[in-house]
Amino acid sequence: MRKPIRRAIFPVAGLGTRFLPATKSMPKEMLPVVDKPLIQYAVDEAREAGIEEFIFVTGRSKSSIEDHFDHSYELEHSLEERGKTELLNMLHTVLPKVGQVSYTRQQQPLGLGHAVWCARYHVRDEPFAVLLADDLILSKPGCLRQMMDIYNDVGGNLVAVEDVPKEDTSKYGILDVISDDGTIANARGLVEKPSPEVAPSTLSIIGRYLLQPEVFSQLDLQQTGAGGEIQLTDAIAKTIGVVPFRGFRFKGKRYDCGDKLGFLEANLAFGLDREDLRAGVREVLKKYI
Ligand code: UTP
Repeated sequence: MRKPIRRAIFPVAGLGTRFLPATKSMPKEMLPVVDKPLIQYAVDEAREAGIEEFIFVTGRSKSSIEDHFDHSYELEHSLEERGKTELLNMLHTVLPKVGQVSYTRQQQPLGLGHAVWCARYHVRDEPFAVLLADDLILSKPGCLRQMMDIYNDVGGNLVAVEDVPKEDTSKYGILDVISDDGTIANARGLVEKPSPEVAPSTLSIIGRYLLQPEVFSQLDLQQTGAGGEIQLTDAIAKTIGVVPFRGFRFKGKRYDCGDKLGFLEANLAFGLDREDLRAGVREVLKKYI
């Protein structure tokens, strides 16, 4: 029996430039899809997968994330006075248990690998999960739960993957695949943002990772890669040979909420997935098509 993964890192220190001006003073991860911020979807997904410690890597202008996962006494008091018990209970379900959340700060946005490295003292010598809240996944069970089930069998470094159009490989980390049974792809390498002509496949990494602590030894070297940033994928690639590396094709649909169109589509998809909103969303859509 493998040691269960109990800790998850949520890197939320990026600048979110594609969503300016919305992200000037508000983190991208607090953008709501329907009525829930992106970061809460990620935390709920992690909780469903058995995660018990939530480590946020924050930066400037990110204090609203800390507030979101804390009591809001004034609001709770007002809801109580007005007898809005259901809303009050819903707010309480958002709260992690006391001591389950910790925050560390990435002082400069030097890349995703650097953000994850900032959490090394919180994770120490144990396997851990990384979730990028702007990759929002509609699936039951959640993507991380599906990954944990596979991880318990295979161990190693496991990342969620999906096929992307050939012309889009330069936006993703792409796997160099040895074998692929349609669910799990064993890889010999990993290339960050390759142009379509040199991409080893079209199998791309999306924002869910289950990683071994060996990745930190590579991140310690602080080597920069694509875009001059310290890339998480480069550090994972360098552990191949020491730690097996696999891609997992999850069941579900991913929405890239770091991109405007992806974010709009996610709102429609999650709206249509909600019983209380489905009919209304359909009516709205009919007006436009
Ligand atoms: P993105 O690549 O989407 O970058 O980061 P970004 O800065 O957030 O957004 P744009 O491209 O400027 O619009 C993917 C995830 O990694 C985190 C981000 O917060 C996001 O959740 N990240 C990225 C960090 O925490 N630190 C970094 O230095 C870079």
